[in-house]
Amino acid sequence: RRPTFYEADCNDEAAIERIFTAHPSIQGVIHFAASKAVGESVQKPLLYYKNNLLSLIVLLEAMQRHGTKGIVFSSSCTVYGQPEILPVTEEAPIQVALSPYGNTKQINEEIIRDTIHADAPFRAILLRYFNPIGAHPSAEIGERPAGTPQNLVPYLTQTAAGIRPELRVFGDDYDTPDGSCIRDYIDIVDLARAHVEAVRRLVEGQATEPLEVFNLGTGRGVSVLELIRTFEEATGVRVPYQIVGRREGDIEQVWADPARANRVLGWTARTPLSDTLRNAWKWQQRQE
Ligand code: UD1
Repeated sequence: RRPTFYEADCNDEAAIERIFTAHPSIQGVIHFAASKAVGESVQKPLLYYKNNLLSLIVLLEAMQRHGTKGIVFSSSCTVYGQPEILPVTEEAPIQVALSPYGNTKQINEEIIRDTIHADAPFRAILLRYFNPIGAHPSAEIGERPAGTPQNLVPYLTQTAAGIRPELRVFGDDYDTPDGSCIRDYIDIVDLARAHVEAVRRLVEGQATEPLEVFNLGTGRGVSVLELIRTFEEATGVRVPYQIVGRREGDIEQVWADPARANRVLGWTARTPLSDTLRNAWKWQQRQE
């Protein structure tokens, strides 16, 4: 099916109002539109606060005016900081944000919580993403970062393609089995499927609480070195890399306890990491 598409800035109240007016049947909103580079947010905090906070407020107001049933919001595991207990559950305490980007995710969660608390006429689901990676298996949809990639997988695939001379591994002196950082890498298509379940839950009135929170991860922690090895085995392509110093602001290790999403949403991450990395590589090879 070909979806109706509008290109509009979510901060543009008039544009958002026009879309809601043109489609009185809108039942639910999935709000993905945000700036997401941690380093850039430190350089341009106002851009991040404006893009990420204002857009949510504009959408919530439009939803209130138009009687929309629910919103699914893209949050992040960054709200947990370095958790004391792993795997991390949704009950883990929220920690002081390490970047303006992380802070916008926390404030957005609070904006939604306060709005619901004030008896907003809709419900919300917060999805806390761990590390989304990969591309659609068709290689028709993937991520193309502007400029030098900041995230591990796009940097890795560009290195494998010879666009970058080598991948830098940020630190091998962490307190982890191989010394490199551990994350929970979640396949982008698995992640997308969770949104379908979440928005369905909202519009079909199945949500048991006005506000629900779910971790979206695999439940498995993978180190940077392990990820490089898995990529090489899955694709047969070597990735030149060098160990360098730690990256400022990185946490040592985090992975999800996705049990609540498994149980309540009926959703499970099912794509093996090797398939996800093969899809990322297929996508990379289609880029000029
Ligand atoms: C960060 C954010 C996360 C955000 C995500 C997407 C935090 C704590 N995390 O995740 O909220 O949603 O970006 O932008 O703010 N690495 C290398 N070499 C590289 C790049 C990365 O070794 O060239 C390592 C990093 O040290 C890290 C891992 O790879 O251990 C993953 O890094 P990255 O892909 O940037 O994601 P996060 O920093 O985990």
